[in-house]
Amino acid sequence: MVGLDLAGRTVVVTGAGQGQGAAEARLLVDAGARVIATDLGPEPPPGLGAVFSGGPLTYRQLDVTDGPGWAKLAEWIRSQGWQVDGLVNNAGITQRSRLLDASVADLQRVYEVNVAGSLLGIQALAPLMRSGASIVNVGSVAGLTAHYPVAYTASKWALRGLSQVAAMELGPRGIRVNTVHPGFIETPMTQGAKPEFRQATLAETPLGRTGSVEEVAGVVLFLLSPLSSFVTGAEIPVDGGQAGHGGAKSVSDALR
Ligand SMILES: NC(=O)c1ccc[n+]([C@@H]2O[C@H](COP(=O)([O-])OP(=O)(O)OC[C@H]3O[C@@H](n4cnc5c(N)ncnc54)[C@H](O)[C@@H]3O)[C@@H](O)[C@H]2O)c1
Repeated sequence: MVGLDLAGRTVVVTGAGQGQGAAEARLLVDAGARVIATDLGPEPPPGLGAVFSGGPLTYRQLDVTDGPGWAKLAEWIRSQGWQVDGLVNNAGITQRSRLLDASVADLQRVYEVNVAGSLLGIQALAPLMRSGASIVNVGSVAGLTAHYPVAYTASKWALRGLSQVAAMELGPRGIRVNTVHPGFIETPMTQGAKPEFRQATLAETPLGRTGSVEEVAGVVLFLLSPLSSFVTGAEIPVDGGQAGHGGAKSVSDALR
């Protein structure tokens, strides 16, 4: 029976040291996958929990902006005799400058991680994928809206374009490419969010709460699994309904 079981599959997760990436790595191990969790540090971060070297979860140091680093990872996977069945381009950074203050350097830095990092991952690992493999790019509600931090928002809109091209180009090889768009998720990235930001976001969120890392991981697992075998080029908001109403919520609330 087709299900969420990923036994026998190898999945690479970037930015897996904490937050959503760590939750994705843990859930994928639970689903039976062999997970290669990657992040910036040389050692497995505590957020990953128990790491079984050579077991279902292996940690590798990888800066997603580092092309030779990706090549080294691909070479190592090849040397183990593995193929790649899944890639989660989760690593991302935020940048909070606003329209009239954002510098070109701000824009370049977020693009380098959020867009180029995902491109490099696809380029390095697609050659190790065969039909049935699945790539999940982690976008953001920022990529569906006019979220105010301009460099971050522009990078996530750009990532959508990259995802769609990849879905088109890799589809004939049976490789699927989809995007999840998290809303406000409780992670180290959002820990320092101003109370005003939190309040205003909740007011725009029909479910009236923030999301958990497990709630994003569940959708990522679905997109990596054979249950979504005819889904490619899709974008799934995991945002409590924040993006779907297109600004109509405040009007609706005002008329209650
Ligand atoms: N938390 C949210 O509310 C939210 C909302 C929308 C989208 N997102 C996106 O979800 C993804 C995960 O975010 P999170 O909230 O878990 O963030 P986080 O900051 O908690 O974790 C991000 C991880 O990425 C790693 N990372 C950063 N730069 C890297 C690089 N160059 N190479 C490799 N790893 C790198 C960090 O070390 C960290 O472990 C990001 O792409 C983010 O943009 C988050």
